[in-house]
Amino acid sequence: MRNETIKIAGTGCALADYLYTRARFTSAQFEQFASKQAGDGGLSPGKLVFTEELEKFANKPYSQILPEIIGDTTFDNVNIGGPSLVALIHAAQLLPKSDYEVSFYGCTGNDETAKLIVDLVKKTPLDISNYIPLGNKRTAFTDVLSDPTYDDGNGERTFINNIGASWDYTPEMLPEKFFKADIVCFGGTALVPQIHDNLTALLRKAKENNCLTVVNTVFDFRNEKKNPNKCWPLGDCPESYKLIDVLLMDCEEALKISGTETIDEAANYFCRQDLSSFIITNGSKNIYAYSNGKLFNAVELVQLPVSETIKNELKENVSIKGDTTGCGDNFAGGIIASLAWQLKNLSSDSYDLFNAVSWGVASGGFACFYVGGTFIEQNEGEKLGKVIPYQKEYLEIVKSK
Ligand SMILES: Nc1ncnc2c1ncn2[C@@H]1O[C@H](COP(=O)(O)OP(=O)(O)OP(=O)(O)O)[C@@H](O)[C@H]1O
Ligand SMILES: [Mg+2]
Repeated sequence: MRNETIKIAGTGCALADYLYTRARFTSAQFEQFASKQAGDGGLSPGKLVFTEELEKFANKPYSQILPEIIGDTTFDNVNIGGPSLVALIHAAQLLPKSDYEVSFYGCTGNDETAKLIVDLVKKTPLDISNYIPLGNKRTAFTDVLSDPTYDDGNGERTFINNIGASWDYTPEMLPEKFFKADIVCFGGTALVPQIHDNLTALLRKAKENNCLTVVNTVFDFRNEKKNPNKCWPLGDCPESYKLIDVLLMDCEEALKISGTETIDEAANYFCRQDLSSFIITNGSKNIYAYSNGKLFNAVELVQLPVSETIKNELKENVSIKGDTTGCGDNFAGGIIASLAWQLKNLSSDSYDLFNAVSWGVASGGFACFYVGGTFIEQNEGEKLGKVIPYQKEYLEIVKSK
C-alpha cells in the first residue's frame, strides 16, 4: 500500500461532439456537399471528413456550409468527446479524490465550444488546470449529422471533424510535472498531430521518469488519408512499443496499425512486438488480451467475452436510451483506474491484467446505458456504484474459468 497520492496525467484528443438530427442525406441541401469519389473531401453517410477538406471540396468556409445543410446552426445536443478526455473523466469518477489525482493536459481555442466543454468537465472530478486556451483557432469539435430516416429508417450518421486549436498543441507545452505522474496516458493522439508525430520521444521521456505508460488509440484519419494503403504509424514503431506498458485499441485500429486483415492476425502481430501488454476490443464481440509479465502477471494471448449481463440488459430493456458512443474511451478509463488502484494497493509483482479487463469491460459496457461518452454524476461515487456490480460479477466469472 502506497501512502502518497497516485497521480495520473493524460494528453490527447479532447473535443465537443455536436449532434444535429435534422440532416437528411437524400436532400438537395446535403447532396450539394456529397462526395462524388472516395477521398474528394465531400460528405458521405457513415464516414468522417475534416472541415478543411470539406471547405476545399465546396470552395467555401465551413461556417457557411453547415447552415446550408441543416437550415441553421442550432444543435440538438452537445457532449464531451475525445478518447483522452472521456477516458480520464471516467478514471477520475472511479477513483476517490482523497488518494488519486487525475489531470488532463491540452488546449482549447477561445470560443463557445471551449466554454461548453469546460463547464461540463467542471461537473466531473477531473483536474483541467492544464487544459488551456491557445490562439484563435476553433476548439476541436466533431459535428455529427444524424439522419434517423436514412437506410429504411435504420438511421445513419455523418461526421465532420475539426482539429482546430489542437493543431497547435506541441510536446513543449507539456510541463515537467506531466512527466512526474505515476501513470502517463496518451489517448487518441492521432487527432493532436504534433503530439502524435512525437509520440516516441514523449513515451521515452515518460519511461525515463519511471512513469507507467498507457496508450489508447483512435481512428487515424490523417494518416489514412495520406497513405490509404499503408499501416498507420504509432510513434516510430517498433521502437515505441517497448515504451508502452498498456496499449488499447479497437479492432479496426489494431488492423490498421498492424497492417493485418483479421483480428487474430493483429493480436498475433502485437504478441510478437516488444509490448508489455495490450488489449483489443471489438464492440460486443470478444476482447483479445495479452501480457508479457513485465507490468501485469504474464497472460498468454486470450479471448475474453464482454459483459453478458450488460448485453442481456440492453436486449431486454428497450427503454434504455443509451448509445455506444464512448464505449472504447470508457473501457480505457476503466483500465487506467484499475492500474492506478493496483499501483496503490498491490505489490508490483501481483498486478493483474484480468482485474484491469474487468474494469474496462464493466465501464465500456456501462457506457451503452447513457447517451454520449461522459456520464455527469449527481454526487461523487455515483458512477462507481453503478459500475461495480458488473465489474465484480465479470471478474468472478473470468477467474472461475
Ligand atoms: N453492445 C455492447 N454490449 C456490451 N458491451 C459493449 C457493447 N459495445 C461495447 N461494449 C464494451 O465496450 C468495449 C469497447 O467497445 P468498442 O470495441 O466498440 O470500442 P470503440 O470502437 O473504441 O468505441 P468508441 O470509439 O465509440 O468509444 C467492448 O470491449 C465492451 O466491453
Ligand atoms: Mg475508440
